Amino acid sequence: MKITDILRAEHSVFHNLFDHIEATVPMLKSLADVKAVAVLIDKVMAPHSHTEDELFIDPLEHCFDQIGQKETFHYEHEQIEETLVKVGRARTLKDAKKLLLAVIAASRKHFEKEERIVFPMAENILKAKTLTDLGDKWMKRRKSR
Ligand SMILES: [Fe+2]
Ligand SMILES: [Fe+2]
Repeated sequence: MKITDILRAEHSVFHNLFDHIEATVPMLKSLADVKAVAVLIDKVMAPHSHTEDELFIDPLEHCFDQIGQKETFHYEHEQIEETLVKVGRARTLKDAKKLLLAVIAASRKHFEKEERIVFPMAENILKAKTLTDLGDKWMKRRKSR
């Protein structure tokens, strides 16, 4: 399986998770519960973002450059992680919810951009064999955990 297809499949799982979180977070009554949701999002998304960073930043650098996206790709991953940390530091329930819902909206936008621009670009530039080799590597890493 191509690594880009694996990443797309992960996006669809995250979208389902986000739908659920957006529907339930407004009802949460405790700050600790909102923070726990932020930790959960970080745990599931960080390995995904790190895989993308490892995979795409170097080989696709010149392409990102051409479309003026060189800084934004990695920067958005950092922004998402930092905002999740901020949820953990929030003092009020209202602030925590606001930050959490904002980071979910930002993540959806980020995914949309990857699906529309980054993954097709990777599929154009990297050889089909490279994409499936990376996919195999990803599968092995999962199994060895
Ligand atoms: Fe990403
Ligand atoms: Fe992604």
